[in-house]
Amino acid sequence: MKTYLVTGGAGFIGSNFIHYMFKKYDNDIRIINLDVLTYAGNLENLEDIEGRENYTFVKADIRDKEAVRKVFENNEIDYVVNFAAESHVDRSIENPEIFVETNVLGTLVMLNEAKRAWEKEDGSYKEGCRFLHVSTDEVYGSLNNLTDYFYETTPYDPHSPYSASKASSDFLVKSYVDTYKFPAFITNCSNNYGPYQFPEKLIPLIINNALKGEKLPVYGDGKNVRDWLYVEDHAKGIDMVINGGRIGEKYNIGGHNEKQNIEIIHIILDTLNELLDDSDPRKKNVSEELITFVTDRKGHDRRYAIAPDKIKAELGWEPETMFSEGIKKTVKWYLENEKWFKGVTSGDYQKYYDKMYTGR
Ligand code: NAD
Ligand code: TYD
Repeated sequence: MKTYLVTGGAGFIGSNFIHYMFKKYDNDIRIINLDVLTYAGNLENLEDIEGRENYTFVKADIRDKEAVRKVFENNEIDYVVNFAAESHVDRSIENPEIFVETNVLGTLVMLNEAKRAWEKEDGSYKEGCRFLHVSTDEVYGSLNNLTDYFYETTPYDPHSPYSASKASSDFLVKSYVDTYKFPAFITNCSNNYGPYQFPEKLIPLIINNALKGEKLPVYGDGKNVRDWLYVEDHAKGIDMVINGGRIGEKYNIGGHNEKQNIEIIHIILDTLNELLDDSDPRKKNVSEELITFVTDRKGHDRRYAIAPDKIKAELGWEPETMFSEGIKKTVKWYLENEKWFKGVTSGDYQKYYDKMYTGR
């Protein structure tokens, strides 16, 4: 039975990955979820699997090498999947330091402790051990030409403190592969959407605001393009890479699903109108009139678009969820989980929201 050490498993993609893996492998794997529970980490995301005997939660910081070491010493870890990160571009513009501390130094701790646990005296590694570092397409920068795509060979050109910190962490992982022959992979994925995404990110923020009849803030002209992937398809790609990828390689993951932000907002409004019952009091709040163009994000990347050719050719990965289906599932999930929304948007998030959007 393989044991996965998943960092950041209480966040958006990490919790979806854990759900995906238990659905697929049930009792044939063990998962240890190491998460410090920042504002973005929420154990409610994993309520339904808490009682499983093959699941353990450890509250710890990836920057804390003693705590991480203890997890490796007390468990036979086969695979590390490193999701833990500060992940929001706007927050990185306000406060870059924590991004470097968590994303760069935290990744370094994870690499060092995994290497320490897995390395044998002759410099080779325990059979079958793998480290997968979860990264983003934002490391490649911004595309201006509509026919260009990000390939694994595209040079890194990060613009935000977030993407610069992720790029730095990717380079550290690569350096461990090149220097120590460390058995790692990097995956660079496009924008994810789906259940459990913190409503500071575009899709859940728009759903949440529309239901409350609050302004829908569009940065700049609303024509920036993102390549949206349903989160379960990302989880599937990670599983395929860790269980079949070539060691030392990087794989781009993306859905060939480019949309302008303004299009996304219209699709969400249409979907809300379609799914909400006429008798639902929230329906009267949903209106195109809420769309409000606001000051652009500093250094706002224009377009991201992934070419997922390599993962498709080598591992047979393909996105399964069409955007039309995925967005419906996502909106439905948020409609049915208003309690979750309320829980995560109270307190500190409200203060953050007021600071970032009032008077923008
Ligand atoms: P998220 O912000 O929802 O979750 C991050 C999780 O990491 C939280 O549970 C948080 O508590 C935890 N965490 C943060 N700092 C930590 C620390 N020092 N120690 C331990 N745990 C810590 O992020 P997400 O959207 O789920 O993204 C997960 C990963 O995927 C990130 O590495 C991100 O860069 C990458 N990624 C995200 C997207 C996207 O669209 N969201 C796309 C591509 C790649
Ligand atoms: P976001 O979800 O923050 O993801 P990322 O910046 O990592 O791609 O933003 C997605 C796009 O939506 C991005 O172009 C910025 C834009 N955006 C808005 O227009 N309004 C908002 O309130 C937010 C949060 C994002």
